[in-house]
Amino acid sequence: MSEQKSKEKKPSYTEFTLDMFSRSSGKNHAEIKQFNQWREDVISADKYTFETPHLTPQTPEIVVRRIHGDEHRLFNFSSYNYLGYANHPEVINAAKDALDKFGLGATGSPLLNGTFDIHKQLEHALTEFFGQEGYGISLFSSGYGANIGVVSSYIHKGDYVVLDHSSHASLIDGAVMSQGTLKLFRHNDAEFLERILKRIAKDNRRILVCVEGVYSTDGDYGNLKDIVTVTKKYGASILVDEAHSLLVAGASGQGAVEKFDVLGDVDLLIGTFSKSFGGVGGCLYAKQELINYMNYYARSRMFSCALDPAVTGGILKALELATGPDGYAKRKRIVENADHLRSLLINKVDIGTSQSWVIPIIFGDERKSIPLADYLMRKGYDFSIMMFPAVKKNKSIIRAFVTSEHTKEQLEGCAEALIDASKEYDFAL
Ligand SMILES: Cc1ncc(COP(=O)(O)O)c(C=O)c1O
Repeated sequence: MSEQKSKEKKPSYTEFTLDMFSRSSGKNHAEIKQFNQWREDVISADKYTFETPHLTPQTPEIVVRRIHGDEHRLFNFSSYNYLGYANHPEVINAAKDALDKFGLGATGSPLLNGTFDIHKQLEHALTEFFGQEGYGISLFSSGYGANIGVVSSYIHKGDYVVLDHSSHASLIDGAVMSQGTLKLFRHNDAEFLERILKRIAKDNRRILVCVEGVYSTDGDYGNLKDIVTVTKKYGASILVDEAHSLLVAGASGQGAVEKFDVLGDVDLLIGTFSKSFGGVGGCLYAKQELINYMNYYARSRMFSCALDPAVTGGILKALELATGPDGYAKRKRIVENADHLRSLLINKVDIGTSQSWVIPIIFGDERKSIPLADYLMRKGYDFSIMMFPAVKKNKSIIRAFVTSEHTKEQLEGCAEALIDASKEYDFAL
C-alpha cells in the first residue's frame, strides 16, 4: 500500500536518487533489484535520458530517440568530437578505404596476429608528430585500456601511484590493479604533491605521478610546469593523460605538454582517439625501450583485440588534417567558441575553474540530476550530467563540451538554456 502511494506521488525535482555504492553480499543480489526498481521508476516517469540512441552523427545538431520512442532534435553539447573529425568526409573515406583493404576487425591481439600495416603507419605518424628522437608509440583499443595497462605494468606492489584528486577513473583503476600504494593530492596543488613525495621518497621505491592535460570534469589545464618540477625533484616519473587535449591544446596540437613546454620532461604520455580524433582507441608515447616493454606487459593490450583497421585509417587521416591548416584553424575556433560560451555564463552560473572546451556548470545537489537532464533535453539540448562518484558529493555538474564546429548562435542558445535551467533548478548565482 505504502509502495503504491509513493509511486503515485507527483515527483519533485529532487527525486530519483540512486546510491551507486549500494552493495549487498547476500545471495539474492538486493542491489541489482534495487537498481532495476530505480531504473523502472525513472522510465515510467518518462525522465530516462541514458543511452538514448542517436539517429545522426555527432554533429552540433543531432536527432535522438528516447526510450518511449519519441524523437528529439537537439543541439549537441555532450560529444567529445572537439574538432569535428568523427564525421569529416575525408576521415570517413580513409576509414572506408582501410575497411575495404583490411576487413572489419583485427581479430587478434596486437602482439600476435592483430597488427596490420595501417597500425604501423599510425605508430610512425604519431611518433613523428611528437618528434623526439628515440621515442615510440604503443597502440591500445581504448584510452581506458591504455591507462589501466600502462599504470598497472609500470608500478608493482610496494611502489606508489600519486594521483591528482580529479583523476579519471581509468587512472584510479590502473593504480588499484597495480597493487601499488595509491596517494591522492589536492587538485592541481604542487605544494600538496611535494608534501606527499617528500614523505614517500624515503622508502626508495618507484613513484609514478599521474596528471591530466585538461581535466575532464573541471575543464582546467593540469598545472604541468609546477607538477613536473616537483616530480623530477624527488626522482619520480610523470604520466600525463592528454585525453581531452591531444590535437586541441598547444600550437601544433601536441597537447598541454606543448602549451606548457614540458614534453621533454614527461615519461609517459597517454592519448585517446575517442575524443578529438573522432574514433576510438588509445596510445602511449614514451621512450622506445619502454614501448617495447609495454607491448608485452600491458595486459589490456596483450589480452585484447587490436584497434580495428577502419578506425585506424580514420585516425591517421584525422591526424594528417589536424597537423595541417585545417587543424590550426579548428584549434583557433574551438578556443574562441569556448571563451565565448564562458563569457556568457560567467557570473550567472558557477563554472568552477574551467579554462578549456570542457565547461562544467556546477548545480550541486545530485538529487536534481535526473529531472534536470530531462528538462534540458526537452528544451532541445544534450549535455553530459555528472554526479557522485564521478565528481565530489554535492558538486554535481552539467558538462558542456564545446567544439570548433558550433556556431555563435548555437553557443548563445546553449547559454540561454543553461541560465533558464539555473533559475528553474535553483543554482543561479
Ligand atoms: C582523462 C581521461 N582519460 C581516459 C579516458 C578513457 O578514454 P576512452 O573513452 O578513449 O577509453 C577518458 C574518457 O573520457 C578521460 O576523460
